[in-house]
Amino acid sequence: MDFTEETATDAVVASFTGTADPRLREILGSLARHLHGFVREVEPTFEEWERAVGFLTATGQRCDDQRQEFILLSDVLGVTMLVDAINHRKATEATESTVLGPFHMVASPPRELGDTIDLVGTGQPCVVTGRVVSLDGAPLPGAQVDVWQADDHGFYDVQQPGGQPPGNGRGLFTCDDEGRFWFRTVTPSAYPIPTDGPVGGLLTATGRHPYRPAHIHFIVAADGHQPVTTHVFVAGSQYLDSDAVFAVKQSLIRDFDEVDDPDQAAAYGVQAPFRHARFEVVLQPSP
Ligand code: BEZ
Ligand code: FE
Repeated sequence: MDFTEETATDAVVASFTGTADPRLREILGSLARHLHGFVREVEPTFEEWERAVGFLTATGQRCDDQRQEFILLSDVLGVTMLVDAINHRKATEATESTVLGPFHMVASPPRELGDTIDLVGTGQPCVVTGRVVSLDGAPLPGAQVDVWQADDHGFYDVQQPGGQPPGNGRGLFTCDDEGRFWFRTVTPSAYPIPTDGPVGGLLTATGRHPYRPAHIHFIVAADGHQPVTTHVFVAGSQYLDSDAVFAVKQSLIRDFDEVDDPDQAAAYGVQAPFRHARFEVVLQPSP
């Protein structure tokens, strides 16, 4: 039978029937059906098809061990957060997850509770305190709290090698006997995702801004529990309603209260006034 507009999809789906792995067979069949459906709807010209191939090629060419333009593409198309939502369907009181993002490519340096992750000393001082607990409220001593954030100008250390000391804005903390953690940092600011690659071109062409609201990244893990990859967002930050990567969840927004009390500042080892955010992380026991 000829490969025609009418027979195309069935022919490609049928070509996968010998796939030994049933999940792979299902995925490829679905890919063929949806991709063909998209092409039938859009009816691209050959020039448009070439442009699409060029865009995907350029996206791959911007990927290396420091940068993942395909994940960025997935992020701005909402695919990353859709995969996240599908994989975290069960509604519990556990802390919600959100995107990992591309800037956790280096291990965070282990630090003592109360240390600062700000190795530069500019920006508004900030203290983050919290606890890691299980779903039933029991504290999780020894839980690992991995944090990373952009500096007060909106750049991660890995984006400015030579400009920022390695490890600036990063720390791996171990909770105390009551599951508590606390560290010093600078108040994060909103920042643009990288726009100097094909994804930036897509945002420009569609009139979308590239900004993310101010946030701190967390990966929290404890024995016998499912780890969570998440953020704390700064209440009142610009772009909370229009995050370029669709990653804001209301449950993750916290007040970063301004504290102008010299005694409290001295207790945390910062200058007043400083900002104070509290974040309790609830982990779900492993199945
Ligand atoms: C980030 O928050 O680090 C991030 C997340 C997704 C895309 C780009 C940056
Ligand atoms: Fe970030």
